[in-house]
Amino acid sequence: MNRIVVVSNRVPLPEKGAQAGGLATALQPLLEREGGVWFGWSGSISAKAAEEGTRISHAGRVTYATMALTKAEHDGYYANFANGVLWPLFHSLPEMMRYDRSDAETYFATNARFADTLLPLLQDGDLVWVHDYHFLPLAGLLRARGVANPIGFFLHIPFPSAELLALAPPAGKLIAGLLQADVIGFQTSADLGNFAAAATTLAGARQIAAELLEIDGRRVRLGVFPAEIDAEDFAADALRAARSPTVERLRRSLGGQCLILGVDRLDPTKGLVQRLAGYRRFLETETGWHRRVTFLQIAPVSRQDVASYQTLRAELSQAAGEINSECGDPDWTPLRLITKGGPRATLAGYMRAARVGLVTPLRDGMNLVAKEYVAAQDPRDPGVLVLSRFAGAARQLDAALLVNPNDPDAIAEAITRALAMDLRERQTRWRAMWQAVAESSPLDWGLGFLRLLQQSPGKRAGGIAPALAPRGKPLIPIHTSSNAIN
Ligand code: ADP
Ligand code: F6P
Repeated sequence: MNRIVVVSNRVPLPEKGAQAGGLATALQPLLEREGGVWFGWSGSISAKAAEEGTRISHAGRVTYATMALTKAEHDGYYANFANGVLWPLFHSLPEMMRYDRSDAETYFATNARFADTLLPLLQDGDLVWVHDYHFLPLAGLLRARGVANPIGFFLHIPFPSAELLALAPPAGKLIAGLLQADVIGFQTSADLGNFAAAATTLAGARQIAAELLEIDGRRVRLGVFPAEIDAEDFAADALRAARSPTVERLRRSLGGQCLILGVDRLDPTKGLVQRLAGYRRFLETETGWHRRVTFLQIAPVSRQDVASYQTLRAELSQAAGEINSECGDPDWTPLRLITKGGPRATLAGYMRAARVGLVTPLRDGMNLVAKEYVAAQDPRDPGVLVLSRFAGAARQLDAALLVNPNDPDAIAEAITRALAMDLRERQTRWRAMWQAVAESSPLDWGLGFLRLLQQSPGKRAGGIAPALAPRGKPLIPIHTSSNAIN
């Protein structure tokens, strides 16, 4: 396999420790095993970002190359356009979108700066693999700079209908840039279908086969690659963590009550307000379960620089307070809402201890937490997954109790059914889901995509001459805090 160069906005720098997010969960095992370069944002904001250049560090076989953003870039590119326009639109929540032309301009300009910074790091033969909605125009910007390498793109979030996408004024330009990639991957066939429709209606592409587009005489391969977890590893972590003092403390604190668990970044797409409404409905109708259950919602704060995320945090705290004060008792707190994260292994132990896993996003590209909940279970006495039918994971985990996350009554009924489910049904459902999560891995996912990318020609015929250095030598001396990368 040629050298892999991953590009993503969020880079899991080893010194920063684990952070919540499916992109890192999916990519890290692949890059750690295959080696390569991981390029993106350092997570820092600096007035001198442009002059500071690239920061290089190494861990194992991975070279991390990151750059800072200025405050204006961070606000326009990341907070306002990527997370204030694309994120809600791609999750079919257009009422949350806040569009301002200057943010779109900053998004394209910042993508151009990422392209300029990446260019000298690239070598002939590199497989460039770009990730997620932060970088829709990047393939086009790299081509414009003479990059002829194979370029792949994977979208971790859903792709909306062409009608919804068209609500973003630069929709056509975004798709045109993306179509400069050779291979474009999606979580589900529905996302792929939506993209093909948008590419034909908004950017003049022609669909010549189910997974093949043609534009300006070039071919673009499309593919479905559902993101995966390492189920065996996660199961082993869960088993170990279940015996740890931290998980033991949680179990003791429950005093024999059944644990209902949610683990999600504090994000409007995760359906947390609706989930709490569903739990409240359950408490109001199923009084027989009072003092016999506790719902623990772990929701690490996310994107607090985006206004709608701050509002959500306040809204959620208020709803949680109301549930506890109005449905609780002096000797019983029905809901624990925690906005801190925790080590992934500890979360695995909590998942194993939970009788019910509540995963009810309004829409989600995949949702790896759903797969992790399945992997964490004790096969002899598994818990029940309640899963939104609008998560990509529902296509593989159809043995879960599938719910419409907008319907509090449906959530309440599913909780009741899950708590009452007999062992045999729990085992039957779990076995079907375990098979689905254990049959693939992040390595299969990543290598499946990269194999397809490796077969693609890059931009040879009629393209701009490859302006790249021979393998092993960067084209231009890199302005870094350490040595050149290899
Ligand atoms: P998203 O990508 O939208 O956040 P996913 O459910 O696909 O949603 O992925 C979330 C991932 O982040 C899961 O792998 C989960 O275990 C992980 N995670 C959640 N909280 C933490 C945390 N505090 N530290 C590290 N990883 C976390
Ligand atoms: O795929 C969802 C995603 O946006 C990833 O790109 C990202 O790593 C994760 O969620 C967390 O979001 P952020 O990087 O904005 O904190």
